[in-house]
Amino acid sequence: MGRKCCKLFERVIIPPTGELLYICAMSWLRNIFYALPPRWRFVARRLYYFPLDFVEGISGKRDALTPPRGLIYTGSGDFRAQGNKLLQYFISDAGLQPQHDVLDIGSGIGRIAVPLTTYLNESGSYEGFDVVETGVDWCKQHISSRFSNFNFEYISLENDLYRSQGTSAAVFTFPYTDASFDFVVLSSVFTHMLPEEVANYLKEIGRVLRPGGCCFATFFIWNEQSAQVDQLNPAFAFPYDHKHYRLMDERVTSANVAYAEDYLHSLIADANLQLHQTFYGYWSGREKAQCKDFQDILLLKK
Ligand SMILES: C[S@@+](CC[C@H](N)C(=O)[O-])C[C@H]1O[C@@H](n2cnc3c(N)ncnc32)[C@H](O)[C@@H]1O
Repeated sequence: MGRKCCKLFERVIIPPTGELLYICAMSWLRNIFYALPPRWRFVARRLYYFPLDFVEGISGKRDALTPPRGLIYTGSGDFRAQGNKLLQYFISDAGLQPQHDVLDIGSGIGRIAVPLTTYLNESGSYEGFDVVETGVDWCKQHISSRFSNFNFEYISLENDLYRSQGTSAAVFTFPYTDASFDFVVLSSVFTHMLPEEVANYLKEIGRVLRPGGCCFATFFIWNEQSAQVDQLNPAFAFPYDHKHYRLMDERVTSANVAYAEDYLHSLIADANLQLHQTFYGYWSGREKAQCKDFQDILLLKK
């Protein structure tokens, strides 16, 4: 424990100069990004990537199931590689099978749907919904048009990171019948939702999952280890303490949200779901090589 702690502090307290500059630049850029109204955040991304998207578009380098970078509002990194990696976890850790009925909550711009098109068979099905219309439109146009068992819905719900208006996700009833899915995934979605919304979604997941079904959900889990790193790492900190949860930014409350571990466990139990497994991520200072992902992953069972 002592040696582990030292390693952690070495990495966070005295980063090499280059790393320190990178950390400062990242928090500065993030601040500017959050100061923009939601619509402008999308415009900024499109403008930033326009030259590269233009070149890739005319050279035919981008395949039909990869969106232009300027449209990928759901995070950085290699869109296709990350989707494929998640699919492997669904299969190896969460028991996903080709004939399963899958619900992808916060389906974004198809990062998870695209690899699933190569895995689900004709007996399987995919439903995705999201609050950002451009992402849903792209998925309908590029995925549903090719794979008839893949369906996407745009739902106008409030989320101050992604949009300026909408109805409350805390009282939203999923448009699906009880026990209609074997597998539910939320990748980097609860990390952008507030407690009443998370509580409602967990209950809805409990309703739409079949008995024995599994939910794969990512979080930022707040516990002793996260607290240590958070105080020292300005690049990824949750300084605003709301007791059961912490915010990265008070102006944009959904920017990034971390949940106290025991509180999260109580929400899961209230939704009649069972916590099956926890895989901690490296956002909280753990060794990257020993983690599956940046975010923490919970597998929940009905
Ligand atoms: C970081 S992105 C991740 C997208 C996708 N799951 C992926 O892994 O690529 C978060 C997504 O959650 C969506 N989202 C935010 N609040 C939501 C809500 N209340 N219900 C459904 N989706 C929501 C956002 O529009 C966005 O597409």
